[in-house]
Amino acid sequence: MMLEVKDLAAAYSGIEALRGVSLHIEAGEMVALIGANGAGKSTLLNCLSGTVRARRGSVHFEGHNITGMKPHRVAREGLLQVPEGRQILVELTVEENLLLGELARGSRTSNYGLKDVYQLFPILEERRTQKGGTLSGGQQQMLAIGRALMGGPRLLLLDEPSLGLSPLITDQVFEALRRLNGSGLTILLVEQNAHRALQATQRAYLLEHGELAFQGKSADLINDEKVIAHYLGHMTAA
Ligand SMILES: Nc1ncnc2c1ncn2[C@@H]1O[C@H](COP(=O)(O)OP(=O)(O)OP(=O)(O)O)[C@@H](O)[C@H]1O
Ligand SMILES: [Mg+2]
Repeated sequence: MMLEVKDLAAAYSGIEALRGVSLHIEAGEMVALIGANGAGKSTLLNCLSGTVRARRGSVHFEGHNITGMKPHRVAREGLLQVPEGRQILVELTVEENLLLGELARGSRTSNYGLKDVYQLFPILEERRTQKGGTLSGGQQQMLAIGRALMGGPRLLLLDEPSLGLSPLITDQVFEALRRLNGSGLTILLVEQNAHRALQATQRAYLLEHGELAFQGKSADLINDEKVIAHYLGHMTAA
């Protein structure tokens, strides 16, 4: 098992956002984490990457207990997050942003270099000398993914990569994720667009009010109209 999360709980100023979530990911899987606004998806990812501190529970990654580790240490273990809202450096060039991503990996070797990122997202190579801030939203998302790849992820966490993107660009981003997973990268994908996330993944967890409401094969969930309608309501539109 690559990632094992047990009974994870987190709170903001005493208000519980995660109430004891257990999940696991096997090497090579692409898993979706779906749920409505405020369900706790980002909180869960942030607990894994170390940017939010869990108040209870444990996280094991490739046999190491990473519970409570600082984000840069977690990244060095190979657990890398593409944060919600991308957070690229707008004053640096595309290539500088990518090269900064390398710092996350510490002394590990990365499976991905500039060449691989440019192959995955050719537009980034075309724009390599442009400042990050001049990119479109979709290109910034690609850059954020590319930067995480430069850090040599063993597990890639993505928080709403399709947020604010056009359907066409969303397709491109999902195609890139499919290719990455196809070449062996393990991925945990947070999405509000449940339909897309379920189509793209093998397994899924559904969060509701900080608790797991459902888990199973994505293909089963996608056809379970009752579950989808009950938990996700209007968000089922692809
Ligand atoms: N920094 C924070 N301070 C206080 N409360 C927070 C903070 N971040 C999240 N919350 C609260 O914790 C709960 C879970 O939020 P979280 O961002 O994890 O949900 P989410 O599933 O990612 O939602 P979304 O789909 O809107 O991104 C929500 O009730 C939210 O209001
Ligand atoms: Mg979120």
